[in-house]
Amino acid sequence: MTALYPEQERVTRLLQDLTIDEKLSLCAGQGLWQTKPVTRLGIKPFKLTDGPRGVGFHSSGKRCTAFPSGIAQAATWDEDLMARFGQALGQECRAVGGRTILGPAINITRTPLNGRTFEYLSEDPYLNSRLVVPIVKGVQEQSVAACIKHFAVNNQETNRMRISSEVSERALQEIYLPAFRAAVEQGDAWSVMASYNSINGVPACQNADLLQRRLRGEWGFRGFVVSDWFAVRGTTSSAACIKGGLSLEMPGKGSRYRYKNLKARYEQGQFSEAELDDNLRGLLTAMVLTGHMDSCGPPGQRNSIEHQALAREMAEAGMTLLKNDGALLPLDPTRIRKVAVMGPKLKRRNCLPLWGGSAGVWPPYEITPWQGLQQENRGRFQWVSDPAQADAVLLFVGLSHRPGLDSEVMDRKRLELPEKQEKLIRDTVATNANTIVVLINGSPIAMPWIDEVPAILECWYPGMEGGAAIARTLFGDCNPAGKLPVTFPRVLADSPAHASQRTFPGDRHTVHYDEELLVGYRHFDKLGIEPLFPFGHGLSYTQFEYRDVQLGGVSFYPEDTLSVSLTVINTGDVAGAEVVQLYIAEQQPNDVRPPQSLKGFKKIWLAPGEAKSLALELPLVQLNIFYPQHDAWRPKPGAYTVRLGSSSRDIRLEANFSIVVAT
Ligand code: BGC
Repeated sequence: MTALYPEQERVTRLLQDLTIDEKLSLCAGQGLWQTKPVTRLGIKPFKLTDGPRGVGFHSSGKRCTAFPSGIAQAATWDEDLMARFGQALGQECRAVGGRTILGPAINITRTPLNGRTFEYLSEDPYLNSRLVVPIVKGVQEQSVAACIKHFAVNNQETNRMRISSEVSERALQEIYLPAFRAAVEQGDAWSVMASYNSINGVPACQNADLLQRRLRGEWGFRGFVVSDWFAVRGTTSSAACIKGGLSLEMPGKGSRYRYKNLKARYEQGQFSEAELDDNLRGLLTAMVLTGHMDSCGPPGQRNSIEHQALAREMAEAGMTLLKNDGALLPLDPTRIRKVAVMGPKLKRRNCLPLWGGSAGVWPPYEITPWQGLQQENRGRFQWVSDPAQADAVLLFVGLSHRPGLDSEVMDRKRLELPEKQEKLIRDTVATNANTIVVLINGSPIAMPWIDEVPAILECWYPGMEGGAAIARTLFGDCNPAGKLPVTFPRVLADSPAHASQRTFPGDRHTVHYDEELLVGYRHFDKLGIEPLFPFGHGLSYTQFEYRDVQLGGVSFYPEDTLSVSLTVINTGDVAGAEVVQLYIAEQQPNDVRPPQSLKGFKKIWLAPGEAKSLALELPLVQLNIFYPQHDAWRPKPGAYTVRLGSSSRDIRLEANFSIVVAT
């Protein structure tokens, strides 16, 4: 029989050569960041390093490039950029001897209070899927396994080690699993991290339904499943983990997979060698694919000029202009000379070891906003500290990676900024009406002060080159084109997961995902709630006009593709990028279905006055919905509307079509 993948013959041989003791010893780690060697067969320790925005100091002992955090990456809506980021991430990992990078992190933003929202990408499964695939491919092109995490339904930090996410099959299929599935089916991810929590009562690390049936069985995963660090503590037995499909327990010698323990269970017949082999096959596969078995592969690079330039390019691409009344931004040196610069985030660094948790990266330098302003000024503005003496004010506020804010282990307590900062905003704008609020944060915040402030720039956690990117954006040297990958609610109670204690954070053991499919904008749309800023929102220093929508190619399911064409014109004076978003609305959604869902997008760059025609191809199969009663994805016949817009609430063009299912 010819193996589907050429490396499988070698893996099969390795499995024949390994003794049972050697196999058992490969199931747990050696220290924090690597597996045990099998010297007899030349298998060296296989290294894993954090994380999703660069290689962590804590896992490598090296200072590496700090890229913008996950939510900033997603705000770019740029797949090509994500491919280049993935390559750079892979190169940084190789340069420290790593063969697996513990990222990207792709859990759905179910609540804005999740302490790890800054690490994750989006509330939308489609955007999440489109962005994760190029990252995974980019990483793996460098002979490094991407480890997509945290599988699965790990959407809060409160009680993360013991909580069970109670979620319906429909929500799993349509909201929580698609990005993992895309990363495996389209990205061929070589590794998956099983999360701390349980899913419908079964711990992720022994969840055969997820790890065996879906991941390996249905999606064709060929890599290894590693536990989140210490996640097996929540499991019921070693045999359950083996049978559940967990390949590797991390860190250290392990507990369930501690050699002696595992050997005793094996000898008692609690699991078979074949079951063990099924799990180890994936680990050996990754060792072969990354060149680990032959000590070969690209040398990698870290902190290179290229990576730093990429970090800046990504930071710029993620800048999201939320509000800009009277075109106050970019700062115009012919009207504005004296600028007051102030606020608690002006001189603050955000990239420090373990700062924010495991996603923390310690770069060799970090350009703070203050340094960026000086570096990029080129004599245009005069900095002052008193807002009363200035033509405009740049006020730097936001959150930080302090526990309880944008940080692992705990969730945020409130949606607002700290009270002191809210007061500072109000006092400053009362003194100087030209106050621009510059936000450094990684999750949505409420803005009860919004009506008083004319301009707001969301910078996220923009990484080591962030200060330069921020300054260039404020000065108009680059034109912001970021779009929100999450909804910003006005108040926490508007947010779908916050109906009650039951839905967030749950009791100590259970949290109920009662909102079902109505996560993020789906909920705001369904209930007709006005968000503070809608999903997909982001302004530019120029304007775009949308024209001439045309639909083609709609006929019968399932072969068909819907082609949507339109023309976009840059009607302003400066070059800029626009993310054209395509939402599909069912004309008569039933009670549980969202009014519209993102099903396509395209980012385009236009010179002033330039018009571009573009076509978005939408395979109709993407419009299938999950029918729990049939346990299957199927088309839903009926009338639909294609909605094209600049955000989920700024729809510029519409066209109707029907899905007719051939009988
Ligand atoms: C985190 C993972 C991380 C691991 C290793 C855990 O606490 O949840 O995302 O990769 O630690 O640092």
